[in-house]
Amino acid sequence: MCGIIGIVSDKGNIKGRIIEGLKRLEYRGYDSAGVAIKTDSKIFVHKKKGKVYQMEEELKGANFPSRVGIGHTRWATHGEPSDPNSHPHSDCRGEITLAHNGIIENYQELKEELRGKGHRFRSQTDSEVIAHLLEEYTGEGANFLDALKRTVNRLEGSFALVILNSKEDALYFARKDSPLVLGLGEGENFAASDVPAFLPWTNRVIFLENGEMGKLTPSGVEIYKFSGEKIDKPPTTITWSLAQAEKSGYKHFMLKEIHEQAKAIGDTVNPRINRDRNSVVIEELPISPTEINHILIIACGTSYHAGLVGKFYLEEIAGIKTEVDYASEFRYRKPVLPPSTLTIAVSQSGETADTIGALRKARQGSKSLAICNVLGSSITREADATLYTHAGPEISVASTKAFTTQLSLLLLLALYLGRERGIITPEQEADLVSKLLALPSKIEQMLRSQEEKIRQIGIEISSYRNALYLGRHLNYPIALEGALKLKEISYIHAEGYPAGEMKHGPIALIDESLPTVFIATESKVLDKVRSNMEEIKSRRGRIVSLISGKQPAIEELSDGVIRVPQVDEYLYPIINIIPLQLVAYYAADFLGHDVDQPRNLAKSVTVE
Ligand code: AGP
Repeated sequence: MCGIIGIVSDKGNIKGRIIEGLKRLEYRGYDSAGVAIKTDSKIFVHKKKGKVYQMEEELKGANFPSRVGIGHTRWATHGEPSDPNSHPHSDCRGEITLAHNGIIENYQELKEELRGKGHRFRSQTDSEVIAHLLEEYTGEGANFLDALKRTVNRLEGSFALVILNSKEDALYFARKDSPLVLGLGEGENFAASDVPAFLPWTNRVIFLENGEMGKLTPSGVEIYKFSGEKIDKPPTTITWSLAQAEKSGYKHFMLKEIHEQAKAIGDTVNPRINRDRNSVVIEELPISPTEINHILIIACGTSYHAGLVGKFYLEEIAGIKTEVDYASEFRYRKPVLPPSTLTIAVSQSGETADTIGALRKARQGSKSLAICNVLGSSITREADATLYTHAGPEISVASTKAFTTQLSLLLLLALYLGRERGIITPEQEADLVSKLLALPSKIEQMLRSQEEKIRQIGIEISSYRNALYLGRHLNYPIALEGALKLKEISYIHAEGYPAGEMKHGPIALIDESLPTVFIATESKVLDKVRSNMEEIKSRRGRIVSLISGKQPAIEELSDGVIRVPQVDEYLYPIINIIPLQLVAYYAADFLGHDVDQPRNLAKSVTVE
């Protein structure tokens, strides 16, 4: 997820306003930044690894008359953060320059084709192929709009584009699966990933749909479908404040990121599926699937809870003995790693000191694989290989979309290993893959139908000082994660526990002052969960239940019920955590806490 902006204007200050707009898009990515400004007949490009403010410093003295320019702030997905990999990217002659947000899935084949025609590439990115495709088609005599139409119809994957060419003071654009919005001003027009980028200069906007492209001049707007058909889209007026706009209208980044999970899971899963066979494609492993006879997962916090779910996946689907350890504990142990161990380090940031320390220790006796959300981060550079989640930048300290994309990736890994090792058949793999591909729409459906109910439950729970979260089997780690979410942003003490452990101690805590959240979605151990609920109910404990399907007996025992769509048992951990994230969010918001920056916490714990 990157931030892009384009401005075409008769009012000047193009460079300054592009930089200002990029600063309001940094929540979309911030590992490198760049601008391209069209002067008389040349395009000036400045791009570097680092933050927008650093680029602003570097460009202080660079002021020249211009009517059109573009800018980009990057969240690396292909090609580590570096100067050459920063956007904007240009064609061979520097006459076409563009900024891209999204993932071009067929870029390798396009790159080979263009190399064969003599094009020279300067970066490892997928985005650069777009500039050379445009160069190829304009070189064959097509006018720029026709060249753009031909180009976008060859691209597979997602893209939002703002494009300059050195021959005209115009801004070209195109959109497929990545957001792009136009801003219509007086004597100037804008295109950007999101409204905040140009909101100070206009609030008249056109939200582009997939398959739309076009051209902006200071006084003109032309919009076309990818087929070439010209269309007319009337603008709407935005009433958000700038602060609201940065969160796309959500009150906090956490709520926005909770709602991004359906897309984040799709962005993480889709590129790894061979659609012909509904099979999982993983080529990065540093050890052959049939060689692995033990897996060690090391992580901290929410990522550790993802590892606990991963244990179930890897043992039950891939048949590999898997242990999960807190990184902060493992690193000071004298570990016994069997031969042919694969260590998996799970980390959103890739900068967690304890996980880096544990990884260094584990690498002394095993091959290593990182599961990480930040390209080029420390853990990805120290591990032998990396599988990336594509959740986009996670701004809120409380981790949400990183967690569900970690679970999705761990499930894909287990399916791949299980098939390669003959533990599951290709048909069994394909069946779970198709259910995983359908999960995002079930998540959206649940959010639409249950969020208000969940908000009420979150507000009720905010009145307690303690809470218990109980789950069994695959949902035991979800009980831990649900409890962590509540305590880290509402400051209410919450404990996650295996439901079966109740009678071994915690049941002594039960009375009407202690609410218990039960994860009671369909599973082979649901009867056991129900008997735990009866134990609590008989001691006047208050119960909130997550249920799926028809469970009259469980509803009877519950003071509050949250309904989760019916999914495959292996997918419940991914969907069940989402209502628990929202319970914590609404409790903390009702208490008036700084949800995105809770006290005492940092987004990335880079110290021990
Ligand atoms: C989760 O909500 C917390 N922010 C924290 O537990 C976090 O998961 C932990 O610090 C690990 O961070 P990482 O995934 O970036 O390594």
